Amino acid sequence: MSTALAPSKIIISGEHFVVEGAPALVAAINLYVEVSAEERYDNHLRIETDYEGKKFVIKSTLNEKILDTAGGEKAKKFLRPVLRTIRKTFEFIEKSEGMNVYIYSKIPPSSGLGSSAAVFVATSASVCKRLTGLIDKEIVWKAAFEGERLVHKAPSGVDITISTYGGMLLYRKGEKPIMLQKSGKAIFLIATVGKRVPTGKIVERVLKLKSEFPSIINPIYMSANYLPIKIAEFLRKDDLYNAGRLININHELLSAVGVSTPRLDFFVNLSRRKGAYGSKLTGAGGGGAFFALVDDERKTKVFNSLSKRLKDVFEVTIVDEGVN
Ligand code: MEV
Repeated sequence: MSTALAPSKIIISGEHFVVEGAPALVAAINLYVEVSAEERYDNHLRIETDYEGKKFVIKSTLNEKILDTAGGEKAKKFLRPVLRTIRKTFEFIEKSEGMNVYIYSKIPPSSGLGSSAAVFVATSASVCKRLTGLIDKEIVWKAAFEGERLVHKAPSGVDITISTYGGMLLYRKGEKPIMLQKSGKAIFLIATVGKRVPTGKIVERVLKLKSEFPSIINPIYMSANYLPIKIAEFLRKDDLYNAGRLININHELLSAVGVSTPRLDFFVNLSRRKGAYGSKLTGAGGGGAFFALVDDERKTKVFNSLSKRLKDVFEVTIVDEGVN
């Protein structure tokens, strides 16, 4: 059995704008997906996972021809991109075999914390390890990108990049990511406000708005271009006050392009009122996750207030290592 662990992520700044070429500031966090791959004695693939308490299974040929599923259309929708990731991994390493693949996720699904990207990355890595004895991160990235493309047509690649390489980085589409030093003082509290609109739909909606009203929306993109770099600078200097001010502006820009919700706005504002330096939605929006930037002194009041109203509030740690 070959097992790989891939981290999820928080986008500190730059989601959506990154799809059109702006930079994003993103960090890998200590919530993981674990995938194991073992040999089968026929030429089939069988993938199994628990999704929201239900068992999903898909069985296929090595060429992605689906033979059987358990869990209906939802299982197919969720696991088809995983099959694509496996087939692409076979193609890139020029080896294949029948396998059973098991996916275990600790990441709240459909929340904007990059659970599907982490599934693709961990899957490709476990298959790579099983067939070659090691994890080639370039191959994992390329194969996971193909999986992600089935989920939404225009991914920037930020989610799979951070899950593959880990740490905290500035990412711009088509460029080599820049690894950054973590801040010593910054603490990120994250929580989810419930189910959200699928990433593909919400990305499309934003792009449509931009093409309908370019003279109004383009200046928002221009301003968003500077935010991740400035926020990274302030975090590096442990200037949480100014990092937080810009994080707040980032949330309002995302709100302006229509990806916040009244519930997200409520919790972002509550975090700020309770003392967070800044708070914003993170990921694709339309529901899902947000974070509050705090330090040791300010964290308890914000944490307690969020915990009274929301089920899972996490204090996350930024992890240096990507998939392994
Ligand atoms: C989703 O985690 C981030 C988005 O910017 C989409 C992407 O970059 O592919 C909304």
